[in-house]
Amino acid sequence: MSADTLLEVQNLHVSLPSLAGDVHILKGIDLTVKKGEAIGLTGPSGSGKSTLLMTLAGLELPSQGKVTMNNHCLSDMDEDALARFRQTNIGIVFQSFHLIPTLTAFENVTLPLELAGMGKDYLEKAETALANVGLAHRLDHYPGQLSGGEQQRVALARAVIAQPPVLLADEPTGNLDQSNGSQIMDLIFGLKESLGVTLIMVTHDMGLARRCDRIISLRDGMIDAA
Ligand SMILES: Nc1ncnc2c1ncn2[C@@H]1O[C@H](COP(=O)(O)OP(=O)(O)O)[C@@H](O)[C@H]1O
Ligand SMILES: [Mg+2]
Repeated sequence: MSADTLLEVQNLHVSLPSLAGDVHILKGIDLTVKKGEAIGLTGPSGSGKSTLLMTLAGLELPSQGKVTMNNHCLSDMDEDALARFRQTNIGIVFQSFHLIPTLTAFENVTLPLELAGMGKDYLEKAETALANVGLAHRLDHYPGQLSGGEQQRVALARAVIAQPPVLLADEPTGNLDQSNGSQIMDLIFGLKESLGVTLIMVTHDMGLARRCDRIISLRDGMIDAA
C-alpha cells in the first residue's frame, strides 16, 4: 500500500441473508482512495451504496475480498478491535441523523469521547465542535427540540469530535431542504479543508457529487465504468 493511500478495497463481495436466501449485494468492488481525497458515491437506489459504506466502516463483513484502511485490514480485527479502530479512525453521518433522543446536543457529541475514555478536555472539545457548526447556543437542547438541519449539524459535530481521518456520509442532505442541505455540505467540505479528512459521501445530488474530487458510480453491486 503506497504511503498516500488511505483506503484500499480489493475484490469486495458482500452477501447478506434474507428470507428468500442470500442476496449478493456487492459483486467485486476494487477501489483505492488517497489521503484527503473526497469521493462522491452515486448510483440508483438498491445498487449497494449504503452496503459499501457500512462495509468500509466495518459494520458489515465482506463475504470475499478485503478492506484495508490506514494500513489495517478490517477483517483481521475482532469486534472489540474494530470498535476501537472505528472510534479513532472513522466518523459516520447518516441521512436520518441517528442522535440519541434522551441526550442533549452536548451529550450526544461527547458520547464518542466518553466511550473512547479520552481525557477531561473533552468537555471543551465538544463545546468547540458545536460552536464550529453554529450551535453554541443549543448545547442543552434535546434532538426533539432541534430542526432537522440543526440535528444533522449535531450529528456532524459528533462524527468528527475525535478528529477521525475518514468521514463516511450516507446521503447526509437527503432529509434536508436546500438551504439546510447546503449549510451541511459547506461544513463537510470545510472539514475536508481544515482537518484534511478523507470523505466518502453517498449522494443522489450530482451537484454535490461534482464538488468531490472524484465520482464513483455503482450499478447492481459493481462500479459502473461508464
Ligand atoms: N440487511 C440486508 N439483508 C438483505 N438484503 C439487503 C440488506 N440490506 C440491503 N439489502 C439489499 O441490498 C441491495 C442494496 O442495498 P443498499 O446498499 O441499501 O443500496 P443503496 O444504498 O444503493 O440504495 C438492495 O437490493 C437491498 O434490498
Ligand atoms: Mg442507501
